[in-house]
Amino acid sequence: MNDAPSEARFIVEGDTVSTLVRTQVAIVGAGPAGLILSHLLAEAGIESVVIDQRTRTEIESTIRAGILEQGTADLLRTIDPNTRVDTVGDRHDGIELHFGGEGHRIDFPGLVGRSVWLYPQHEVLKDLLSLRLAAGQDLRFGVIATRVEGVETNKPRVVASTADGDELVIEADFVVGADGSRSVVRPAIAGASSGGYFREYPFAWFGILCEAPPSSDELIYSSSPHGFALISQRSTKIQRMYFQCEPDADPSALTEEEIWSTLQARVPGTTLRTGPVVQRDVLRFRSFVARKLRHGRAVLVGDAAHTVPPTGAKGMNLAVADVVLLGRALKALLQERDTRLIDAFAETALNRIWKAQHFSWWMTSMLHVTSDASEFDQRRQIGELKSVVESEAGRTFLAEAYTGWPIDA
Ligand code: DHB
Repeated sequence: MNDAPSEARFIVEGDTVSTLVRTQVAIVGAGPAGLILSHLLAEAGIESVVIDQRTRTEIESTIRAGILEQGTADLLRTIDPNTRVDTVGDRHDGIELHFGGEGHRIDFPGLVGRSVWLYPQHEVLKDLLSLRLAAGQDLRFGVIATRVEGVETNKPRVVASTADGDELVIEADFVVGADGSRSVVRPAIAGASSGGYFREYPFAWFGILCEAPPSSDELIYSSSPHGFALISQRSTKIQRMYFQCEPDADPSALTEEEIWSTLQARVPGTTLRTGPVVQRDVLRFRSFVARKLRHGRAVLVGDAAHTVPPTGAKGMNLAVADVVLLGRALKALLQERDTRLIDAFAETALNRIWKAQHFSWWMTSMLHVTSDASEFDQRRQIGELKSVVESEAGRTFLAEAYTGWPIDA
């Protein structure tokens, strides 16, 4: 049954207004995880309120990775008949691993019968935001969650402040933290804002968006003695490329000539097609898994629960897999009072999360160069890359993980 939304307003102190909203599921964060979950719940007749501290424009313009696993693309098609994943997005049937002066193609359909789609996250978000707003979703922008209370009771609450400085309290049957790596919901679950398993890396990526034609039809992941580079695409006119840099690199420190010569030196054998650099950023590398994903009636999903380094583009895909599981679990809990799926949620989700953690770490460590690498390390790395590209089993391992494991695996 779909509870009617209820909203009551109170004056608290002075002229601060506090509004109490009652719903079934309070979702903090309107990224891919929060929005897809709100859709899955609505389909099941479960009401939710979604809040996000950002404006709609900020959400739609956040530049993130661009690769959707086959399962993610399939899900987007089933939930959104207007998704542009097949029109603006592009199917990719393989990637190239480049090292030791040679390129090696990994043929996804030939190895595992699956593909990936290059469709940037901010485009996914534009689709999902218009879908949810058109469906009448209670979705509030510019609302900053400050704390979560009562997760050990049946009426957990999210306390937030609105853009006008007023207080908003959302009382729900369940609270979902889909609020990214600086999650405000996490302390109510993991006990501390950082409570989890960490790994830092001694490098980062310098990312650019440029106005140029594609330099390659498929993505090139290149390991060179100068460091790693990734040649990705966005459209016929805009390209996305990255190169390994120091973690504290200043994105504005390099000239466009320096950016292009750094990139070109790292992809020998491919002549890069250059053009104006229209955006630049430095991406930190971090692996993180929260020690606890659920406590009482609150749960963490997406980047709030785990962060992966960008190599292999698992971030959004993992968030989508989390909410598919969570959607089923909340449906069983809230509609049938069946606690089995929610009780199993953390363990089931962690199975995939740790596989994706391993894959992202493995791709990262296999392809990047560290300043303290000995000659042994360098030769071992080439041996590892060869054991992948020269063996069908090795290529299949990579293709299976890259295109994504089945959601229940
Ligand atoms: C992109 C980012 C990645 O981290 C990756 O592995 C592949 C593609 C991208 O932004 O296009």
